[in-house]
Amino acid sequence: MSNDLNEAAVRAARAVNGERLWASLMHLALFGARPDGGVDRHALSANDIAARSWVIETAQGLGFEVSVDDAANLWIRRKGNRTDAAPVIVGSHIDSQPAGGKFDGALGVLAGLEGLRALDEAGISTDRPIDVVAWTNEEGGRFERSCTGSSVWSGAMELEDYLDDIGADGARLGDALASTLAATPDLPRRPRRFPAHAYLELHIEQGPVLENEGLEIGAVTAIQGIRWMNVEISGHGGHAGTTPMADRRDAFQAAHRAVAQLNASMADPKDVLRFTVGRFNVMPNSPSVIPERVQFTIDLRHPDKALLDERARCITPTVEAAAAPCIASISPILFMDPMPFPEEMIAGIEATANQLGHRARRLPSGAFHDALYPALVCPSGMIFVPCRGGLSHHPDEWAEPRHCHAGARVLTAKAAKLAGA
Ligand code: HGY
Ligand code: MN
Ligand code: MN
Repeated sequence: MSNDLNEAAVRAARAVNGERLWASLMHLALFGARPDGGVDRHALSANDIAARSWVIETAQGLGFEVSVDDAANLWIRRKGNRTDAAPVIVGSHIDSQPAGGKFDGALGVLAGLEGLRALDEAGISTDRPIDVVAWTNEEGGRFERSCTGSSVWSGAMELEDYLDDIGADGARLGDALASTLAATPDLPRRPRRFPAHAYLELHIEQGPVLENEGLEIGAVTAIQGIRWMNVEISGHGGHAGTTPMADRRDAFQAAHRAVAQLNASMADPKDVLRFTVGRFNVMPNSPSVIPERVQFTIDLRHPDKALLDERARCITPTVEAAAAPCIASISPILFMDPMPFPEEMIAGIEATANQLGHRARRLPSGAFHDALYPALVCPSGMIFVPCRGGLSHHPDEWAEPRHCHAGARVLTAKAAKLAGA
């Protein structure tokens, strides 16, 4: 295994304080804490705004420059010797699923901040600035089109295209964004886009591979492709007690047939394809009324684009046929193609982990991440650490302190090296 790190990068890793990182993770989890131990911190919500304020105060208290862009991505900068040099960016997100955990997203942001502190304490200067970013709305739990902030920063999407999106709670994204920005009126504004030298994201694996193999670090090879769709089925409402069964156009029964048919079409003997109906709304949702309208979401994922596209293409004809005589309409929410990371980043993360004494392997990501978008514009890589039972998007999500520490060490050393420590 080649050595990836110089002496300064190794010293930076040694200065990472695992206890301090853990304390910050537990503190951030107080914003939107649920009674069951989980976190409910929807993007641009009051809980998200409060969490952002704490991150801002903490970073400013440590002497770092904090700024925000008009997509509300939050930037924390440690200056480099060359002020005009493109930064190395490290980050993730601090929004959560409605019944999310303490680590998904938060780890990548707080480990980045811990890395900046470690560099300060070890007295290491870098050629390039290092920016820690908390991207806006990675999860899509409130506003469905996820990775809002990272997609805007990368230029893949325009912010204006998102502003009229309506959240699960009826809020308009543009209004929630304006409230979030208004909460920190004194923060300097960053441009919407700027060149970056490289991007790194630390994240819990959200799957079982590292834990099963007793490993501490994953060097992520690629993110699998994803297709999200909204399905709307329209039937006829009416009285549940009086309308003859033969005359009904029951939108729930039609949706039930459609989902059953989709389950059959999406079956994969190799268990690689992922098919999920995660949201299901029945209208008017009353025991004595025949459902008039049903909306549900489809989340379909596979590492191979051709296979993903082929399966995605059968969704509309399958749903339309199964739902008849009700009318089905299917609209896309989010289409992300599989994203491989560059070999030099994968190998560099693996070598960094090994050099710091952490057992590592390469693995693909089943979940999507903000890194998808920076990867379009600069060399990007991801570092995984294990999580208990592979569980995520759940209040019981858990990562061991020593694994969070190991991930932060690898992140800090690799970022320091890329920034020219
Ligand atoms: O759903 C995902 O893959 C991501 O964790 N939000
Ligand atoms: Mn995440
Ligand atoms: Mn997530």
